[in-house]
Amino acid sequence: MKIKIFENYEKMSIEATRIIASQILRQPDSVLGFATGSTPLLTYKRLIRLYEEGLISFKKIKTFNLDEYINIDVKNPGSYRAFMENTLFNKIDIDEKNWFIPDGNAENIEEECILYDKKIKEQGGIDLQLLGMGTNGHIAFNEPGTSFSTRTHVVSLKQNTINDNSRFFDRLEDVPTKAVTLGIRSIMEAKQILFMANGAAKAKAVRDALEGPISIDLPASVLQLHPNVTILLDEAAAMELGR
Ligand code: GLP
Repeated sequence: MKIKIFENYEKMSIEATRIIASQILRQPDSVLGFATGSTPLLTYKRLIRLYEEGLISFKKIKTFNLDEYINIDVKNPGSYRAFMENTLFNKIDIDEKNWFIPDGNAENIEEECILYDKKIKEQGGIDLQLLGMGTNGHIAFNEPGTSFSTRTHVVSLKQNTINDNSRFFDRLEDVPTKAVTLGIRSIMEAKQILFMANGAAKAKAVRDALEGPISIDLPASVLQLHPNVTILLDEAAAMELGR
């Protein structure tokens, strides 16, 4: 596990951009795993800039997002589909048929979960998975208590996750309470993981994830078992680390 600590969010994002861009240059048809939330925002902005400067292309890139809310209008800006379109996909040369997000409105959601894992397999698996973390240690939407053997599945969100994510919605009541998410096992199958966390609100979960016992009570602690994970932190998120 490589841990890199940066002075601030911007410097952390520059490093994340460098790692993703170098993957794209090395393997232009890479399968990338993308995440939503505030953490990757600046990384996406910088990737767009590299694309605009003609330095990288997403023409052959395939992407899979980690998760999506259940029963949310895809036009709602709080939906992860709208988030990805607005912050990245509409601004780069990715082919619409090459990006995938779980369909939270699928008629048969269980079938959608199986199909999503199958699609990832068909593309040869995820080469590089970008990953953030919730303040309670969740990865994607795998909340504390989720088995490490899960594949894509349906989850009920914890109240603190709903509260944290309400900033993307007009009202707390508008935040969906269920989601479909890649499972822990699906995430751990990625060939490489790029984990990012910034800000003091993540400091305790960062410490528990990296230095605490590996436990389903802190889903991100499973990353200690991944053979190829790079951890990028800003100083605020790293401040509780002992080692
Ligand atoms: C959501 C997403 C996670 C993300 C987390 C952290 O719950 N499902 O994939 O890691 O938020 O979000 P933020 O980066 O905004 O702190």
